[in-house]
Amino acid sequence: MTEPESLQFLGVNQVRGRGRPLLYFSGCDYYRFARDPALARAMRVSLAEHGLNVAASRATTGNHKIYGQLEKELAGFFGAEAALIMPDGYLAPVAAAQSLAGEFTHAWVDEFAHGALADAARMLECPVKQFKHHHAADLARRISKCGRTARHIVLTDGMFSHDGSVAPLRDYLKILPARGIVLVDDAHGAGVVGATGRGSLEHEGVGRERIVQCVTLSKAFGVYGGAVLASRAQRDRIVERSRSFTGTTPLPPPLAGAALAALKQMRGSAARRKALLQNVFLVRTKLTGAGWALSETPGPIVRLPVMSGPEANLLKKRLLAAGIYPPFLRYGAASAQGAFRFVISSEHTRRQLKCLIAALVSFKSRRD
Ligand SMILES: Cc1ncc(COP(=O)(O)O)c(C=O)c1O
Repeated sequence: MTEPESLQFLGVNQVRGRGRPLLYFSGCDYYRFARDPALARAMRVSLAEHGLNVAASRATTGNHKIYGQLEKELAGFFGAEAALIMPDGYLAPVAAAQSLAGEFTHAWVDEFAHGALADAARMLECPVKQFKHHHAADLARRISKCGRTARHIVLTDGMFSHDGSVAPLRDYLKILPARGIVLVDDAHGAGVVGATGRGSLEHEGVGRERIVQCVTLSKAFGVYGGAVLASRAQRDRIVERSRSFTGTTPLPPPLAGAALAALKQMRGSAARRKALLQNVFLVRTKLTGAGWALSETPGPIVRLPVMSGPEANLLKKRLLAAGIYPPFLRYGAASAQGAFRFVISSEHTRRQLKCLIAALVSFKSRRD
């Protein structure tokens, strides 16, 4: 990977890139909570009260009452029996998988799953295979060949960040034999999809009985850190068995304080969620109306179809000319060729959205 240019944030929706201010339609701070004064205040209060760092694992002397408070709030928000916070979102599925090592005979990973799940799968101590992206029938076909005694685990993102689609969790649960479970990396879905933003499980209308949900606090919640939402027994198993939990320093208390404030904001954010949906609807409707072929997905991500190198370069130039940072990303198996991926926020103004729409509509009309 070549290291991308560094961007400086100039306000909620602008960055300094290529030496000048540009409108920003990227990143995963969907509600701009990372710049919310209430979160910053909560962070300062926790810093003053608890210091920057507990400087020890929770398995030794690094446990702290703020972690219990945050876990209680997270479990309450997501409607899970228990939550366990982790230092970051990447480690959440890794910790869950470490605690489940040896319990399965087959691990099935969506071919476009995030790297965190690929690494988590290795911890399960069983053969790991990929299945076709989003493809319940492919998964069913593969599982049907494994015999009756097989014990399966499926690993998938909840909402996929390359296009905002949500994994068909309901179908996966139907396919899985009774003892099979799904490990969902809901880093992008949490706080975003589902009628009240509880993530891909809510979106799919499935219960938690055979699902372990992993989330990050670094995207929609605007803070940092990760968490596993699961049964109390599963939480206990991670605490006992997972080296990524026992061997790491937990989230700094100021970030835990900010995360508590983020959850409070999230609970009262029906208006922001509505604005997010309206903004996405506006962009999608105008672009599809202008002939862009976009996939219909529930997430706030507008991904343009893959285009040739010269076309992509031309669009980058046009976007820059319109004062928009060109979010052309090559990231993960799903975006290996590179694609423009615009992330819409609840805080984008009508004017900013219209500027993006105008640039893309004009590009499309000149190209056709
Ligand atoms: C799907 C997915 N899982 C996990 C992570 C890692 O989360 P964190 O950045 O909190 O470590 C990311 C972050 O980019 C992600 O997109």
